[in-house]
Amino acid sequence: MPPDVMLEGEPATQAETSTTYAAHLQMPRQEQDISRTPSQDGVSGGPTATAQEPLEADDAGSFENDSALGDTDDSSERTSLFSEIMKYREENGRRYHGYKDGSYLLPNDETEQNRLDLNHHVFTMVNKGRGGGLYRAPIDKPARVLDVGTGTGIWVMDFGDAHKESHIIGIDLSPIQPTWVTPNVEFLVDDAEDEWIGQKYDYIHIRMLAGAVKDWQGLLQKAYNHLNPGGWLECTEFEVWIKSYNDTLHNAPDIKKWQEGLQEAANKFGRTMEVAVNLEGWLKEAGFEDVVEEKTVVPSSPWAKDKEMKTIGAYQLMNMLDAASSYGQAHFTRVLGWSREEYAVLNAKVRTQLKDRSLQLYSNLYTVYGRKPKPPKTTPDAEAAE
Ligand SMILES: C[S@@+](CC[C@H](N)C(=O)[O-])C[C@H]1O[C@@H](n2cnc3c(N)ncnc32)[C@H](O)[C@@H]1O
Repeated sequence: MPPDVMLEGEPATQAETSTTYAAHLQMPRQEQDISRTPSQDGVSGGPTATAQEPLEADDAGSFENDSALGDTDDSSERTSLFSEIMKYREENGRRYHGYKDGSYLLPNDETEQNRLDLNHHVFTMVNKGRGGGLYRAPIDKPARVLDVGTGTGIWVMDFGDAHKESHIIGIDLSPIQPTWVTPNVEFLVDDAEDEWIGQKYDYIHIRMLAGAVKDWQGLLQKAYNHLNPGGWLECTEFEVWIKSYNDTLHNAPDIKKWQEGLQEAANKFGRTMEVAVNLEGWLKEAGFEDVVEEKTVVPSSPWAKDKEMKTIGAYQLMNMLDAASSYGQAHFTRVLGWSREEYAVLNAKVRTQLKDRSLQLYSNLYTVYGRKPKPPKTTPDAEAAE
């Protein structure tokens, strides 16, 4: 990744979800983030995983009634690179990235951008104020921060607002980030799977890249190599399988079919979805120390009795309803050869089952972080003995 060169739908029903949360997201970010507890901002994570109380289902009433709520001199080369970046692929009603066309199967259109921003909001709520809702690793004023696969750049901008002392770079295949940003924030179009060169970082953040990366161990090794000693890597991913808290997944056969198809397509495409459960081992293999894995239950709809979890579930449902199309459409049509119409039928059934609160659907969210070791301190005596 040459940092100096680093130029660095479908959903017919999308209006029903997108507009709902788009309205919410028009609020200033600080107001949106109802989970932020200022007193907890900057509080670092402990060495052990967070214990989570079992969730109790709310079997009364509907949620709606609840109140809880690197640089090149060659200008023609530059021009062609620029047009490659800006040339999007339109397919089956969705828009996909143009740079490294075909290497990532989720769209980058407005529907997807809204979904990513909503998803960010879910993460901040799930983090319950830790790191201002943005991180869990015990970082301390990192000077240089990298966000790999930054999406809309919302994490980078929030981190930049909260950490004026840091310079934060977000990289992505798609140039979908705002151009007017604070001076400590920078966005570059780049492929994280290319070679990384240039300055090192003090903190690297990777979130929701399951299905996007060919060689996870290689990517994590590059992150390790490009951290300063003592620097932290933090990865956050949902487990691939949606589960049922009351073991009623058999009542959602289309969700099962969708997940199996998605996993088959992702494996065939060579970019696994099975990332979350492997992260801890992969970080250790790459050489990280003090590796911590934290697993959190995230309800997929507002079925939980607890108010906060119900709210998280409500947002997560909006996310999942769009995610069915975002994750599924190109995987099923491009990779498995389904027709657009065939996929639309499955997508509609999946959406119906996702909305069924009696299934008590949830996913495990994994956050795994680890530190690059500092070199052992050398004393004058030890140096003299060498
Ligand atoms: C599911 S989105 C997550 C975005 C962001 N990390 C977040 O949590 O909001 C994955 C992002 O990774 C980007 N991406 C996929 N493969 C990439 C690669 N090889 N290099 C850089 N970005 C990549 C996609 O363009 C997309 O914006």
